[in-house]
Amino acid sequence: MTPQPFRIAAIPADGIGQEVTAAGQKVLDAVAKNSDGAFAFEWTEFPWGSDYYAEHGVMMADDGLDQLRDFDAIYFGAVGWPSVPDHISLWGLRLAICQGFDQWANVRPVHFLPGITSPLRKADDTKLEWIVVRENSEGEYAGLGGRNLGARGHGGEVAVQSSLFTEVGCERIIRFAFDIARTRDRRKLSSVTKSNAQQYGMVLWDDVFKRVAKDYPDVETESVLVDAMAAKFVLKPEELSVVVASNLNADILSDLGSALAGSLGLASSANYNPERRFPSMFEPVHGSAPDIAGQGISNPIGAIASAGLMLEHFGLTAEAENLARAIRATTAAGVLPRDLGGSATTDEVTDAVIEFLKIGS
Ligand code: NAI
Ligand code: MG
Repeated sequence: MTPQPFRIAAIPADGIGQEVTAAGQKVLDAVAKNSDGAFAFEWTEFPWGSDYYAEHGVMMADDGLDQLRDFDAIYFGAVGWPSVPDHISLWGLRLAICQGFDQWANVRPVHFLPGITSPLRKADDTKLEWIVVRENSEGEYAGLGGRNLGARGHGGEVAVQSSLFTEVGCERIIRFAFDIARTRDRRKLSSVTKSNAQQYGMVLWDDVFKRVAKDYPDVETESVLVDAMAAKFVLKPEELSVVVASNLNADILSDLGSALAGSLGLASSANYNPERRFPSMFEPVHGSAPDIAGQGISNPIGAIASAGLMLEHFGLTAEAENLARAIRATTAAGVLPRDLGGSATTDEVTDAVIEFLKIGS
């Protein structure tokens, strides 16, 4: 009997989101084919994004969350196009899903792959692998504030953008990060804030971190200010294992991390609803890259690696490991897209990953 397929909602959305999710879908279908019927994926594509906005005035259907609710996972591309203000496209689709489905833990691994030159001096002789854990439901992206407060007239406009930190929100993401740190060869968790300048929310975060750390005596800890952490990523990368930070700080640090590994196009990410009350969402870290969209040259590795995180989420651990190995084999063989200094197209990179999958399965 064929088991129930994993049902995946695909939302390619804008720009290279379309190209890289097509690549990830092709790779996962190859993974399923190699399983000889042990499992299958059933894809349903949703046409939401900036084109949908041009037609309907909204980024997704009004009952979009209801349409997505019963899927096993969401596979997302990237949202944003010059025709729509970025804050409207982001809040109307990606953040609407992350916040609507309480996907409060955003995990962004940074892998240093063979065959890719890192701008880091030390990368060659140090085994680097980081996981950035991002608080994904509050903090600086809580959407609290307003514009034109007090109607000060032309040239005197005022805007307030507040951050929201709750003890519950801090504690759950910090515990989540400690639990990940515990599974690693190097059991270390670095907490990042800017509590010298932001004396309320971030001091709460620091206090919760200190309290929760007592429950994890086997995990080494440190608290670092975000500016110092940016420097540390570059100067002492070997001292990092798992890094936990607020919504904005982790967003910035994960881009820095993937750039140090070679390109933003490599970075994968999972937005988890850890209680599994709602589907989790898997997506590359990068945006829609309007500067290269439609040319067939975008790097699909971030999206393919995100599909690998989805395999893990489905409990297909061996398949996820085989996919990670196939990605490493692809870069080691020198099949590199342009952002990594090569000349391979999106399709060529994707097909190479699929070929290397077979060798291991
Ligand atoms: P971006 O990530 O789209 O591009 C930054 C630079 O990296 C560009 O030069 C681009 O060509 C390059 N790049 C990114 N991904 C690549 C890949 N897979 N292969 C090769 N090169 C790649 O960020 P940008 O330019 O700041 O934003 C463009 C649009 O994307 C905006 O509308 C922004 O709001 C949106 N955005 C959406 C995100 C999401 O949906 N999660 C995340 C970040 C930005
Ligand atoms: Mg970002």
